[in-house]
Amino acid sequence: MNIYIKDILTVLPGEVITCSVYIGDGVIKSVGTKPEGFTADKTIHGSGKMLIPGLINAHTHAPMTILRNCADDLLFNDWLFGKIMPLEEKFTGEDIYWGTMLAAIEMISTGTTSFIDMYDFMDDMARAVDETGIRAVLSRGLLDVGGPADGEKRLKVALDAIERHKGHERISFMFAPHAPYTCSEDFQRTVAQEAKRLDLPIHTHISEGLVEKENISKEYDCTSIELMDKNGLIHDKTVAAHCVHLSDSDINTMAKKGVTVVTNPVSNLKLANGIAPVPKLLKAGVNVALGTDGAASNNTLNMFRELAVLSIVHKGINHDALAVTAEEGFKIATKGGAAAMGRSDIGEIKPGNIADLAILDLNCPNMQPVNNPMSSLAYSTYGSEVETVMVGGKILMENREFLTIDADRVYHEVSKICDRIGTR
Ligand code: NI
Repeated sequence: MNIYIKDILTVLPGEVITCSVYIGDGVIKSVGTKPEGFTADKTIHGSGKMLIPGLINAHTHAPMTILRNCADDLLFNDWLFGKIMPLEEKFTGEDIYWGTMLAAIEMISTGTTSFIDMYDFMDDMARAVDETGIRAVLSRGLLDVGGPADGEKRLKVALDAIERHKGHERISFMFAPHAPYTCSEDFQRTVAQEAKRLDLPIHTHISEGLVEKENISKEYDCTSIELMDKNGLIHDKTVAAHCVHLSDSDINTMAKKGVTVVTNPVSNLKLANGIAPVPKLLKAGVNVALGTDGAASNNTLNMFRELAVLSIVHKGINHDALAVTAEEGFKIATKGGAAAMGRSDIGEIKPGNIADLAILDLNCPNMQPVNNPMSSLAYSTYGSEVETVMVGGKILMENREFLTIDADRVYHEVSKICDRIGTR
């Protein structure tokens, strides 16, 4: 379908201007000038609206929407081992499907068009991604705390699911060694070798909390980065979530090896883990992406809230109003996430890129007056201004109506799951 978005305030790489955008075959055909022979099947009038590249949630656990607001104001270990994991043990594949559907609704309705996930039940997640039309990188959490056979089993489950869904136009895969404290050194090396053999990126949690930092130091006499680097998991296809507690030498290693750091400011702050040294990482030349983490710790998947916190918190901590600017924050939430996915064809509005886009309504009190669009995106957008979203040129939400999802059914099914597993 050819879509003509007429005269809209558009966030282009390096500038924000009013122009027209032409979309055909799922791709941005042209910005500004009408391509030869272009006939629009659909015209969207851009007056009073803003067009942005879809946001990229570079680290989340989508099905954890089911566990939203059921384990809060707890210390990290009490939260994870005391509350979350016992509830997760009750999940079925069908639960994961509905949890992912809820996540997709929340992400689409707040302008996110792609997400990088780590969880379980990849078939059920893939089904939800396929049906909703969102774009995803899926990875099954791999750990061997139950012994080598347990690790091997999980790896096999991941490999089989990847085999079943490979070639899907909107789903790709990573290997996800969960964290240095849940993967033995042997298992880390096995995963690194398998990932290399299959040319799959790595998605992992690194240096999230102080307990991890202390335990890894005690057990291995090094940092989490050093440990995982030694075992072959730190390279230019590594997407490392959190990275809160890093040494200067860790930052140098990550810059040198081309690792992407996904910062999750709200989850890290809420679980009292601290905050990743984003200004230092940017200065060192590390690609930084932005993620919400799961809804059990955030407690939303709203990338605009994440962007606001990212762009504000580092100014306060560093007593530096330029620490992460609005423009840097927005780039982290879009192009940085695309790079984490290993892609240069999303994350920016330019001819040839895939049409993963969101349209915001500017006729909202918090968006008026329109003085500096970049500031409004980083500091005053709630996410509820997002009215139309497309992925690969296919419209998933139009004027806030979901075209691929029955939202009421999703709320009903998720509520039934909560009753069954006992979240309230
Ligand atoms: Ni996480």
